[in-house]
Amino acid sequence: MSGQCGSNPVWTAPTSDDARFESLFELSSDLTCLIDVSGQLERVNMSWEARLGWTKADLSRRRFVDLAHPDDRAATAAALCDAAAVAETRGFENRLRGKDGTELRMIWSLAASPLRPGIGAIGRDVTGERRLQRELIEAADREKGRIGRELHDGLCQSLAGICTLSATLARKLAGRDDPAAAAAAELTALLKQSVGDARNLARGLDWAGVTPSSLPLALETLAANIGALHPVSCILLHDRHLPGLDAQVATHLYRIAQEAVSNVIAHAKATRIIIRLRYRKGRILLSVVDNGIGMGERRLEAAGIGLRSMEYRARLIGAALMVEPASPRGTRVECAWAVDARTRNAAPAATLSPPPSATRPVYPRPAQT
Ligand SMILES: Nc1ncnc2c1ncn2[C@@H]1O[C@H](COP(=O)(O)OP(=O)(O)OP(=O)(O)O)[C@@H](O)[C@H]1O
Ligand SMILES: [Mg+2]
Repeated sequence: MSGQCGSNPVWTAPTSDDARFESLFELSSDLTCLIDVSGQLERVNMSWEARLGWTKADLSRRRFVDLAHPDDRAATAAALCDAAAVAETRGFENRLRGKDGTELRMIWSLAASPLRPGIGAIGRDVTGERRLQRELIEAADREKGRIGRELHDGLCQSLAGICTLSATLARKLAGRDDPAAAAAAELTALLKQSVGDARNLARGLDWAGVTPSSLPLALETLAANIGALHPVSCILLHDRHLPGLDAQVATHLYRIAQEAVSNVIAHAKATRIIIRLRYRKGRILLSVVDNGIGMGERRLEAAGIGLRSMEYRARLIGAALMVEPASPRGTRVECAWAVDARTRNAAPAATLSPPPSATRPVYPRPAQT
């Protein structure tokens, strides 16, 4: 039986199950492959050549792990081990290198083969999606910075000017022993407060480039702003010694805290927020804990981008983000960034152990640190 496109036959239906599998395997626009127990590619489909430039001959007996970006090799090896151990792993993300050096971001579904030792893997190219996500986040950061600077240079300056005029008026009225003097003094105090609030708000929006040393100050300003503008106590507890941070990590940690705190204000009905920035056992831990109503299932229904953008930022710096109920109530958001994340992700040892049995595959495991 043939499919027709106009008068041209475009597809001939396979006659056996094997042939059906063959055509599905080959025709998939995703990267599809079979990996043997030693981690080598046994078979790849045509998309590997179309997307990455590797021919089937290039890839024959190459280790799957070796095609990953060097920083992703340990995690890739671990994902293979997990798939072999639990039969299936979905949503594992890594970067693959093409023949000409191009890099694709892939999301993998990995499944242990039910018929013989080995793993089947299907990888979806999400390079474009991830680029778009990153550009959206960068555009939002730039926009926040722009609003912060405009607020600082515009509204803050004119409020400060009005405050000075009001202070002069209050002094004159006080000199004349005018009963309106008290009202003018009160007005001046309120204006001073507003100038301070607006400045803090502007600074909070314009922390475009948080540095490792300014991160505690940026978070302190965030906590002070929140406490001043909302009926909630917000405090920062932080370690003095925060080793290993760089500007990119510091900026993303700050934005994660900012988003988590905004969520508390918007949704939690909390009376207390504690932001913690600590260094423990080689990891920088940033947490935002509230004593509000908790998330329940609502986070799953929400169409917002806050949680997704926190997750994305964490992924960008190689950190892990956890959102969970706090004890005894409320929500706890924690981002854990391993200081040696970059070096820890070095390629795993190249030697592979032979499988101890035909049914228990062994993949190269990353060295534990
Ligand atoms: N600290 C919190 N306490 C209670 N509920 C929360 C908290 N943080 C988030 N949520 C719930 O999780 C949902 C998803 O949050 P998310 O930040 O992704 O979206 P949003 O805040 O609704 O919208 P956006 O962030 O895009 O403005 C929220 O709508 C809210 O129901
Ligand atoms: Mg939100």
